[in-house]
Amino acid sequence: MNPLVSTTNQSGVAVITIDNPPVNALSPGVPEGLASAFTAANADVGAKAIVVIGAGRTFIAGADIKELEYAAWGQPAKLPALHDLLATIENSAKPVVMALHGTTFGGGLEVAMAGHYRVAARDGVMGQPEVNLGIIPGAEGTQRLPRLVGVEKAIEMCVTGKPIPAADALAAGLVDAVVDGQLLDSAVAFALDVVSRNAPLVKTSDRTDKLGTPERNAPLYAAGCALAAKVRRGAIAPLKAVDAIEAAVALPFDEGCRRERELFSECVVTDQARALIHAFFAERGVAKVPGITKETTVRPVGKVAIIGAGTMGGGIAMACANAGLQVLLKEAEQAALDRGMETIRKNYDVSVKRGRFTPEGVEERMARIHPQLDYAGFDSADVIIEAVFEDMAIKKAIFAEIEGIAGADCVLGTNTSTLNIDEIASVTKRPGSVVGLHFFSPANVMRLLEIVRGKATSSEILATALALAKKLNKVGVVAGNCPGFIGNRMMFPYMYEAQFLVEEGATPEQVDKALTGFGMAMGIFAVDDMAGIDVAWRVRKALRHFAEPGVRRPLVQDQLFEMGRYGQKTGRGWYIYDANRKATPDPEVVELIRSSAAGAGIAQRTFTPEEIIERTVYALINEGARILEEGYALRAADIDVVYINGYGFPARLGGPMMCADQIGLAKIAARIAEFHAEFGERWTPAPLLARLATEGKTFREFDLERA
Ligand code: 3HC
Repeated sequence: MNPLVSTTNQSGVAVITIDNPPVNALSPGVPEGLASAFTAANADVGAKAIVVIGAGRTFIAGADIKELEYAAWGQPAKLPALHDLLATIENSAKPVVMALHGTTFGGGLEVAMAGHYRVAARDGVMGQPEVNLGIIPGAEGTQRLPRLVGVEKAIEMCVTGKPIPAADALAAGLVDAVVDGQLLDSAVAFALDVVSRNAPLVKTSDRTDKLGTPERNAPLYAAGCALAAKVRRGAIAPLKAVDAIEAAVALPFDEGCRRERELFSECVVTDQARALIHAFFAERGVAKVPGITKETTVRPVGKVAIIGAGTMGGGIAMACANAGLQVLLKEAEQAALDRGMETIRKNYDVSVKRGRFTPEGVEERMARIHPQLDYAGFDSADVIIEAVFEDMAIKKAIFAEIEGIAGADCVLGTNTSTLNIDEIASVTKRPGSVVGLHFFSPANVMRLLEIVRGKATSSEILATALALAKKLNKVGVVAGNCPGFIGNRMMFPYMYEAQFLVEEGATPEQVDKALTGFGMAMGIFAVDDMAGIDVAWRVRKALRHFAEPGVRRPLVQDQLFEMGRYGQKTGRGWYIYDANRKATPDPEVVELIRSSAAGAGIAQRTFTPEEIIERTVYALINEGARILEEGYALRAADIDVVYINGYGFPARLGGPMMCADQIGLAKIAARIAEFHAEFGERWTPAPLLARLATEGKTFREFDLERA
């Protein structure tokens, strides 16, 4: 008996159930179990048709990514060879109906497409998300999908990796029926109907009606490549997916499948596949925190009270309202409260225009947000989040105030991006309840939540904060309490180095172009302008006591602040902004940089994009290594998750630490040693980086050894 696949009989239909929790991945044993079950069902005189269904929350969610990871790193992997199984399914003499619920993804959809019919639960979704892992569908998905939905739709699905809901799948021809209620009963009834009508059993692989011709499809392939460049800049797999779909049209089915296998094999060993698979597991690994077990109590969260209705407070309120939580939003003055609520309304209106929410959905969300000037209702809040200015004195005053108001079980969160959690907690009598909840702007959009553990923060509070992140559809990463935590602490040397580069002869535009060319979502100067030069100034002021005497500081950013050039919000910062927030370089700023540099006697020269990347990204990596060694990040992979989800670091490079592994730690350490000799103390090599480089090891191995 195969424990992963079992067969029962319902009304004369063989029901094959896959039961491989949590997501019925095609792990070793599942394809074998399916193959035996099909042979048995076809031989069973008591079965007129076959239904395949997944136990638990989903149909098959894809190949086992653990096996893909082994393959990516060149280790022995048990990747399923599905060709024979899919042929067995298609060649079944009895009708095969696939009953789809949950997430029919990747290899799961590929199995489903080999059936003669597909019946989907209304809330199910289907997709070929392989590009998210740097690969293409490897079990004939690129060959069967265009046969069912046409070339254009197949390209869109394989290039973007975005799943489609059941209703869209029905319209596209991917499924034959969408049902409410009992999926298995509906699928069995569907199968019996096929039998009673003696309906033809068309093999998907035999279909050609939606394929078109290579000539007529040429513009679709070109559009697919353009789409890939737009939504997945620099990624290899989406382009290979287009190639594979071209093969589906140009070649007979079996040859097309062979071509797909070749392309798949090419993709799975690329640095990009390694990086993206790493990112997949890294994101799921962050919740594994020492001291938190399944037994740790997670306090229920239904009501969140927020102090401060500015950019951060408003965004957090939206994130909470979107997740169905009740929100109390407090401001000190009516005008600020009105402004905050107006901004929330405006942001929601944009979401309606973009089709993200319906007007009714927005009204429901707005109704969950209660604006107020006092602390009414705060006593029954499950979480209080202080989201005021980055000013220690103000934050302490607020915590002293809420101390007497908050309920005994309330989580006391501070949305600081850099300040000392322990100092904030010191003004309360319950420092164990205090935790940093560092949201990223716009807080209703950005996925990262840095959860900062103070020295007294209890496991219960931390577990509740992690659960809150999940509820808000965010990825919560636990960071230790050091200035800037993980993300901003790494940001300081990265940003400073960028500013030193412009003082030494580059322009903000050149630096930003090199960074976006490398893959960053935005250049650092554009980020500074977006986040607010005034905000950065306030942070610098708060952390001034950490500045080391004699260590070089950037010359220009304080001057921009003094000139009132706060960035996008004032139309001027490092760049000039038009009404549509489009940036153009400002000669006045370049002049300011040049004169400041001349005043300080800084020699001028030109820089290549490679030098710019080495100076900035290696600074990021060096600081990351320090944070890791000092224990402020639990794993190198956690740092990667922070940078991918909060700082626009390209996922296809796996985050800064994985990127460092792929560049080679020895190469980076050698370059850092050169910078150290040239620029002095600020480039002191992180001991961990130097050690791993000497030992020929990687950050990934460092994580694995400590797991
Ligand atoms: N293989 C192995 N493990 C998987 C997996 C898979 N395909 N999908 C999910 N898991 C694991 C996760 O690692 C996690 O494990 P953990 O609890 O030990 O951390 C657990 O299942 C639950 O996953 P999530 O926390 O992500 O649960 P969610 O409910 O939030 O999401 C999901 C479920 C939507 C299925 C999401 O996990 C997902 O998107 N998975 C990836 C799906 C995918 O990419 N499929 C294609 C794989 S490649 C392929 O099929 C190649 C083929 O063409 C040959």
